[in-house]
Amino acid sequence: MSEYLEVCERAVKEAGTLLTERMGRVSVREKGRFDLVTEADLESQNLIRRIVLEAFPDHLMLGEEDHPDNAMMNPPGCYRWIVDPLDGTTNFVHQVPWFSVSLALERDGELLAGAVYHPACKECFSAAAGQGAFLNGQPIRVSRVEVMDQALAGAGFPPDVTSDKPDLRLFLAAAETCQAVRRMGSAALNLCYLAMGRFDASWSFSTKVWDVAAGLLIAREAGATISSPDGRAYRSPEPHYVAAATPELHKELLRLAKQIGI
Ligand code: IPD
Ligand code: CA
Ligand code: CA
Repeated sequence: MSEYLEVCERAVKEAGTLLTERMGRVSVREKGRFDLVTEADLESQNLIRRIVLEAFPDHLMLGEEDHPDNAMMNPPGCYRWIVDPLDGTTNFVHQVPWFSVSLALERDGELLAGAVYHPACKECFSAAAGQGAFLNGQPIRVSRVEVMDQALAGAGFPPDVTSDKPDLRLFLAAAETCQAVRRMGSAALNLCYLAMGRFDASWSFSTKVWDVAAGLLIAREAGATISSPDGRAYRSPEPHYVAAATPELHKELLRLAKQIGI
């Protein structure tokens, strides 16, 4: 396991350094409406692929920017690395340094190891299944907040958000009940901030598996309570979730989501 985690951390840090050097000097295009991709997204993914496959040549890699068909299907017994080479591309394009690199290792539906690197703060969050979560090597833990009016929540929207989307509807409802709700622009960092107690809650109904695979493992290992949006037990690597620092706060969030018909 330590070998997986070492490669994972090295890959996200090297990719984060590449992104920092490339910020402000890349061409941009739209993959979909308001959904941006840059040369740096691809360069970061290629760098991570090279580092991971050099260490583990028979593993599969599911990357946001391109992947073989069998990586999407995830054949039984295979080790599969799940990478978001630049989470927060819109921020990156506008030279807002709130972006991260996310990489997780999964096998047969179990997240085994993961790391998220935030280059602007030089913060590397990591976790291995059953071994706890860490920030730059130091153990981290979720907060003890149990009630909405003491909670700072981190949410996100899909790039083409509309007023009927559940992410936005829960954001508005939570804005009236939580101390505050933030939409920073990196789903991976939302979960890491929950894991280390800066945020107390987070949810997403529109992310993809690469946005949150590593972050969910880190949050779970830090003690977060995580479920599917409908309250079912969370099954990795399902990309939609409601997560909170404590079971009490998690229950409150689910109750609020139910109240507004989610
Ligand atoms: C996006 C970010 C954003 C979230 C979006 C994601 P990208 O990822 O994580 O915070 O709200 O749903 O698509 O496109 O910057 O990798
Ligand atoms: Ca992403
Ligand atoms: Ca991305």
